[in-house]
Amino acid sequence: MLPDSLLDAAYWQQRYVTGQTAWDTGRITPPLQEYFTQLGPPDARRILIPGAGRAYEAEYLHTAGWPTIIVADVAPEPLQNLQQRVPSFPAEHLLLVDFFALEPTPPFDLIVEQTFFCALDPALRPAYARQCAHLLRPGGTLMGLLFDTEFSKPGPPFGGSREEYRAYFAPYFEFVHFDTATNSLPPRRGRELFICLRRKEMN
Ligand SMILES: C[S@@+](CC[C@H](N)C(=O)[O-])C[C@H]1O[C@@H](n2cnc3c(N)ncnc32)[C@H](O)[C@@H]1O
Repeated sequence: MLPDSLLDAAYWQQRYVTGQTAWDTGRITPPLQEYFTQLGPPDARRILIPGAGRAYEAEYLHTAGWPTIIVADVAPEPLQNLQQRVPSFPAEHLLLVDFFALEPTPPFDLIVEQTFFCALDPALRPAYARQCAHLLRPGGTLMGLLFDTEFSKPGPPFGGSREEYRAYFAPYFEFVHFDTATNSLPPRRGRELFICLRRKEMN
């Protein structure tokens, strides 16, 4: 499902090795950290972080004792970076794979989104919503951040609006939360939507 040109694995790997990684915050972001702290103590939930990059969220959850954090990315550099930063992170939970090729075997309980949706060719947005629904168990959660803004330069990142996004997710998800994040990092403040969507039982 990766486009043939531009935004393929080689493109992303090149961005990492040449240090063109403006999205990389170097630490877990406050909206995700606050959400994770209210999950309660670690349990057996299967958590997927697709397009995870260096995955500071995975490091945070692993360090907090969550046993099943699956990190997926098409570029090897960020996965190696995580492995080096966190040697105790299970190597079998680092997947060098196209998100759209993942299978729910077994299904996930939670998918975490941050600057992956905006990195994809916008033509893939309906497929992203469908694939998240495919990977989650009924009642499972897709949560994270989407840019609710347009960018002046050509993407990635590709911008959009909450009205546009709502249409992609509505067939598969109930909207638990879908509003401007209140605790974004300063450069993203007021421009991020915090989403928490529950996978419908059917569809
Ligand atoms: C803008 S970066 C965001 C990384 C990370 N989420 C963060 O916030 O730092 C987008 C990431 O998605 C990855 N990616 C792009 N297309 C992908 C795909 N089809 N499947 C899995 N990962 C993909 C890229 O390699 C890159 O690491």
